[in-house]
Amino acid sequence: MPASQNLSRVLIADDQPDVREALRLLLKGESYAIQTVDSPAAVLAALQDRDFDAILIDLNYTRDTTSGAEGIDLLSRIQAVDSRLPVIVMTAWGNVEIAVEAMRRGARDFIQKPWENERLLSILRNQVDLSRALQNADRLEAENRLLRVRGRPTLIAESKAMEPVLDLISRVGPSEANILITGEHGTGKEVVAQTLHAFSARASKPMVTVNTGGLPEGTFESELFGHVKGAFTDARTDRIGRFELADGSTLFLDEIANVPLKQQAKLLRVLEAGEMERVGSSKTRKIDVRVLSATNADLNVEVSQGRFRADLLFRLNTIELHIPPLRERKEDIPLLATHFLRGYATRYRKPLAHFDAAALKLMSEHLWPGNVRELDHAIERAVLVGRDDVLHASDLGLAGNRSGPDASIEEMSLEEVDCLLIRKTMARHADNISQAAEALGLSRSALYRRIRKYGL
Ligand SMILES: Nc1ncnc2c1ncn2[C@@H]1O[C@H](COP(=O)(O)OP(=O)(O)OP(=O)(O)O)[C@@H](O)[C@H]1O
Ligand SMILES: [Mg+2]
Repeated sequence: MPASQNLSRVLIADDQPDVREALRLLLKGESYAIQTVDSPAAVLAALQDRDFDAILIDLNYTRDTTSGAEGIDLLSRIQAVDSRLPVIVMTAWGNVEIAVEAMRRGARDFIQKPWENERLLSILRNQVDLSRALQNADRLEAENRLLRVRGRPTLIAESKAMEPVLDLISRVGPSEANILITGEHGTGKEVVAQTLHAFSARASKPMVTVNTGGLPEGTFESELFGHVKGAFTDARTDRIGRFELADGSTLFLDEIANVPLKQQAKLLRVLEAGEMERVGSSKTRKIDVRVLSATNADLNVEVSQGRFRADLLFRLNTIELHIPPLRERKEDIPLLATHFLRGYATRYRKPLAHFDAAALKLMSEHLWPGNVRELDHAIERAVLVGRDDVLHASDLGLAGNRSGPDASIEEMSLEEVDCLLIRKTMARHADNISQAAEALGLSRSALYRRIRKYGL
């Protein structure tokens, strides 16, 4: 084929021969040069050989036919080879969650099988055109711009219930006071911490965040205070800790209730003295940090039950800032939803959509146990699955809230059972991650990751 030099090259990967054949036939009349392969390894080999304009990959191959793990893994390998190559993923019907996960990890679009020919062609055409039009430099510039916008905290709060919160933020933000931010999961504690930092005289330096709830046991001290070479077996070089990194700036201690008592004592000593030593070193360093902390637990209860030190609480909560759950500030829902919609429509290059009346009603009636994060994820999903520029209630994926108390286990997916079990165990242990993790036989960080994943 003499003209093939100028054709757009598309690579197709699927382990099923009939799928490869159907796609080949479909694309044959469309002036693409097509190459098909049947495994992730063959994809990587093909990418070594030549450049492509787009690649269409199945998410499930023979090793494991439903989880999508192989496809997600392949996606990141492709990105490592060529981050600019548009990847379109194919999933089975009803497997939207995996498609959403792939999009979060950088897939440009997705197609559900069995596909509609027209839709597949238009998605492919868009991606190929886009990749041809955008020079590498243009894309980098565009992505940088996006990142810069995302880096700035946006705090949307126009409801009555948020008035006292905003008022307090503007009054204590510029001060040096240590502030404890409380509120359920996903209410915006981190956004509030960033806003407080942005208001402060320390704003020219970046805020340093430590997810104390997610730190594996045993690394706490070295993460926070750093270590010197030889302090323990794995300490091959000196390492600077978060406290030193935050010197002159703000340190944000997230999930503070999950710090074990022994480490609480160390934290307290550093906060009281304003100085610390790296692990394995006797040299004392002065540090100047303002500490913001956050928790979804009631620290007074934790103190009364002996799980949190009263003197540490006293250090942390010079001011306490409580963020109400989303269900108590429903006026903010349409504003937040529109904000997320704009962001995702841009990020995923979808036509800017709006909500229909039923979607708005459903959002205002839903109780949002995962608060703003749950709303954020619901909108991301809706943008990805929505077929036109109006988002419908069904796109939100809220109706199938089957992990409620009445759902029968037989009807639930493994993930839903997992989620339900974690929710119940957390409730039984008053949201104490350490205790719930022990009861579930998981490490704290493994439990923490699941809580994040399910937006609990
Ligand atoms: N008022 C708000 N305006 C805009 N975006 C918000 C607001 N509140 C929360 N968000 C967004 O919702 C998501 C969850 O917020 P954030 O991570 O701050 O919650 P959190 O309270 O720290 O949750 P967790 O307890 O699970 O750590 C983030 O993507 C954040 O940007
Ligand atoms: Mg948080």
